[in-house]
Amino acid sequence: AVTRTFSIIKPDATRRNLTGGVTKMLEEAGLRVVASKRIHMTREQAEGFYAVHKERPFFQDLVAFMISGPVVVQVLEGEDAVSRNREVMGATNPENAAEGTIRKTYAESIEANSVHGSDSEENAATEIAFFFKPEEIVG
Ligand code: CMP
Repeated sequence: AVTRTFSIIKPDATRRNLTGGVTKMLEEAGLRVVASKRIHMTREQAEGFYAVHKERPFFQDLVAFMISGPVVVQVLEGEDAVSRNREVMGATNPENAAEGTIRKTYAESIEANSVHGSDSEENAATEIAFFFKPEEIVG
């Protein structure tokens, strides 16, 4: 089924002018960008977005990294969008990411790993609603 997922192009990628490069790989994977905006997250936004990770040892570093520069938040639409996006992103740690994936191609480290993507349809809906109003999404 055609579904939606949520994506973030992270500060390491925007800093290296890779918004287009990442987006091209998403599009070539069969995903369509149906909403997109470049924002600089506040600490409160980053902490709220990653609240599920707040007990993890890397939480404070993760938040600091995500507010270290602009990001591009996107809604992606396509056939099985969540799994398709996870495939093209590759493993969280770029050392484990397959050839041809976004993280293998662009990521610098497990933290500066260039992209975030929702891990389930349920989380996709929550994450999309965190950053976008329904009328900002144009399918
Ligand atoms: P993301 O999909 O954005 O969700 C949480 C992020 O935490 C993850 O991608 C990683 O970039 C980041 N992170 C940093 N350190 C770790 C770690 N040790 N294990 C898992 N995720 C980590």
